[in-house]
Amino acid sequence: MARKKIALVGAGQIGGTMALALAQKQLGDVVLVDVVPGVPQGKALDIMEGRSVINSSTQLSGSNDYADLAGSDVVIVTAGVPRKPGMSRDDLLGINYGIIEKVGLALKATAPNAFVIVITNPLDAMVYAMQKVTGFPSNRVVGMAGVLDSSRLACFVAMELGVAAEDVSAVVMGGHGDTMVSLYNYVSVGGIPLPQLMDKETFDKLAVRTANAGGEIVELLKTGSAFYSPGLSAIKMAEAYLLDKKSVITCAAKLNGEYGVNDLYCGVPVVIGAGGVEKILEVAMDASEKAAFDKSVAAVKNNADWVNAKG
Ligand code: APR
Repeated sequence: MARKKIALVGAGQIGGTMALALAQKQLGDVVLVDVVPGVPQGKALDIMEGRSVINSSTQLSGSNDYADLAGSDVVIVTAGVPRKPGMSRDDLLGINYGIIEKVGLALKATAPNAFVIVITNPLDAMVYAMQKVTGFPSNRVVGMAGVLDSSRLACFVAMELGVAAEDVSAVVMGGHGDTMVSLYNYVSVGGIPLPQLMDKETFDKLAVRTANAGGEIVELLKTGSAFYSPGLSAIKMAEAYLLDKKSVITCAAKLNGEYGVNDLYCGVPVVIGAGGVEKILEVAMDASEKAAFDKSVAAVKNNADWVNAKG
């Protein structure tokens, strides 16, 4: 079987983290592509030199040329700028849109069959723009957000209860911004529904922390945004596709009628396998959760309208 090719467009903090995780998991060969000369080449070589230590046969290379995206099975896009303290993800809309447009046109020309995962913020608008620019079917263009937001909530629940994070699973839906919706009834702890273990008031505090979790890291780092957990989250999505795992993952998928929403990318639970987004799962929400979800959809739509106005 031919080796898979995974392209990482953007070799910054998240790109480098993903390259290392891919080498550890040996999911395929990796090409890092960035506009800065030397950085993708340097990171690729650095990881290449560590492979003997981790028993990995992954081949990694770096490039400043989009032509090297050719033949990619999976492309993960972080190209763009991260936020600084005091900025919201939406403040990045103008600058990152221009970058996504450029990358999207390159992908259309070089890797027309790839499964594309977008990480660049503001996420829901950037993945919407990517699908529009490439014209790829929406099952092959997804955004990494819900998987990370859900993992953050799971982390806070685990810390609060003093249990293993790996035993907590959570679902956070809606846009990847302040309006994201943490669902109390869909958290389970070793299979036990969370309402049996934690009161709603405590959960609501953790939900607020989850919505602000990206900002909390930005305030601590001061020179960039979170990168380890976003990188690992995207690799989980890539793995589900490459290994046809049929994983149930919350991510930004294009809605065409589901949840009463049309022509918009938004965080919902989906099934990812060799067909990309193979199914969108429509789950029940109570009235207040649905109202919060609708509010989040409205915020995402604002940014999508901005993208549409661009052409
Ligand atoms: N093509 C390729 N790479 C580009 C381009 C482009 N047109 N423009 C910028 N880049 C590169 C930068 O040179 C940089 O190396 O994208 C990389 C971004 O890396 P970082 O600045 O380290 O940012 P990172 O933390 O990886 O986050 C990237 O993901 O979570 C989001 O908000 C975050 O939008 C940001 C993105």
